[in-house]
Amino acid sequence: MHKAYIQHIEYYLPEAILSNEHIAQSHPEWSVDKIASKTGIFERHIAAEDEFSSDMAIKAANKLFEAGVDKDSIDYILLCTQSPDYFLPTTACIIQEKLGLRKNIGALDFNLGCSGFIYGIGLAKGLIVSGQAKNVLLLTSETYSKFIHQKDKSNKTLFGDAAAATLVSSNESPAVAGEIGDFSYFTDGAGYDNLIVTYGGMRHKNKEGADEFEGESFVRNNENLYMNGSAIFNFTAFNIPPLVTSILEKNKLALDDIDLFVFHQANEYMLDVVRKRCNIPKEKFYIYLKNCGNTVSSTIPIALSEAAKSHSIKKGSKVLLCGFGVGLSAGGVIVQYC
Ligand SMILES: CC(C)(COP(=O)(O)OP(=O)(O)OC[C@H]1O[C@@H](n2cnc3c(N)ncnc32)[C@H](O)[C@@H]1OP(=O)(O)O)[C@@H](O)C(=O)NCCC(=O)NCCS
Repeated sequence: MHKAYIQHIEYYLPEAILSNEHIAQSHPEWSVDKIASKTGIFERHIAAEDEFSSDMAIKAANKLFEAGVDKDSIDYILLCTQSPDYFLPTTACIIQEKLGLRKNIGALDFNLGCSGFIYGIGLAKGLIVSGQAKNVLLLTSETYSKFIHQKDKSNKTLFGDAAAATLVSSNESPAVAGEIGDFSYFTDGAGYDNLIVTYGGMRHKNKEGADEFEGESFVRNNENLYMNGSAIFNFTAFNIPPLVTSILEKNKLALDDIDLFVFHQANEYMLDVVRKRCNIPKEKFYIYLKNCGNTVSSTIPIALSEAAKSHSIKKGSKVLLCGFGVGLSAGGVIVQYC
C-alpha cells in the first residue's frame, strides 16, 4: 500500500503589520498588554489592498520550489481557502498557470477554515494511497482581514493573513518526512452561524450595504466576519478532548506516546483551556502565535515549519495535529517523522 508523507512546508506572511500598539491606539479600552495577555498575539500580517489568496499562495509555493522541490513533480493542487479570488473558476486553476506547473495535473479549491489543513492532508493522502497522485501541492491561503470591520476589535486582534505551501508526497525522502497516520473527523453544522460571513453567497444575493450591528467588542455588517467567540470556545472546549482520544485510539497510541501536540493556533487563552482539558503537559504543547496571530488554515503548517526549525520536531517524533473552528468543523491525525 502507498504511504503519504509531509515532505516540506514553506509559508508566506504579507508585508504590512498590525501590532497591538496600532490596535490600542484605535481602541484605547484594550491596552497593548491586555491584548497580549488575553490572546498571546503581539502582531498580525495584513494582505495589501491588491493582494489576494492566489497571490499569497503563489508566493508560498515559490518558496518550496526555491528550496529544491521539483515543479514538474507536482501532479495535483489542493487549495484551501474561504476567500477565493472568484466564485468561479476554482482559484487552484489560476495558480497552476501562474506557477508554470504541468497541465496534466488535477487542481481544485476546497472551502474550510481552521480545520482546513487537516482535511487537506487527509485529501492529499487519499489521492496518494488511491494511486491518483504522487506529489500533492497543498496550499492554504486566507485574507480574513478583508472580511473584518475596521471597528471590530475582537476579530482584529485574533486573525492575521497568511499562506502556506505543503508538499505531500508518496516519497519518504528527504531528511525528515512525516508519515501521515489515521484521521478522526468531527462536524457540527448546527453551529454554522457562530462564525460566518452572511452576505456574499447566493442565499442573500443582491443584498448589500447592510445595517451595522454593534456588540460589546465588535461592530459589523452582514458583509463582515461575525464570530460568536464564546460559542466557538465552548465547541472547542467540549469536543476537542474526545476527538484527541479518538485520534489516539485510531493510531493505537497513548497520550504519553506523543512527543508534540500541534493544534490550530486560535488564541493562547483558548488553547490553554483545551490543553488542560486534554491533560497535555505544557512542554509538549506547541504555541506559535506571537508574530502572526490566527492565520486560519495556515496556523498548523506554520507551526509545524517553525517546530522543525527549532528542533522541537526531529526524526522519530510522533506529532498529534488537531484543527477546529468555522463550520463548525474539526479533525486530527498523528504524523510520525522518519
Ligand atoms: C474571543 C475570546 C478570546 C473572548 O474571551 P472571553 O473571556 O470569552 O471574553 P469576554 O468577552 O468574557 O471578556 C473577558 C475579558 O477579556 C477581555 N477580552 C476579550 N477578548 C479580548 C481580546 N481579543 N483582547 C484583549 N482582551 C480581550 C475583555 O475585555 C474582558 O476584560 P475584563 O475582564 O477586563 O472586562 C474567547 O471567547 C475565545 O477564545 N473564543 C474562541 C475564539 C477563537 O479563537 N476563534 C478562532 C476560530 S477557531
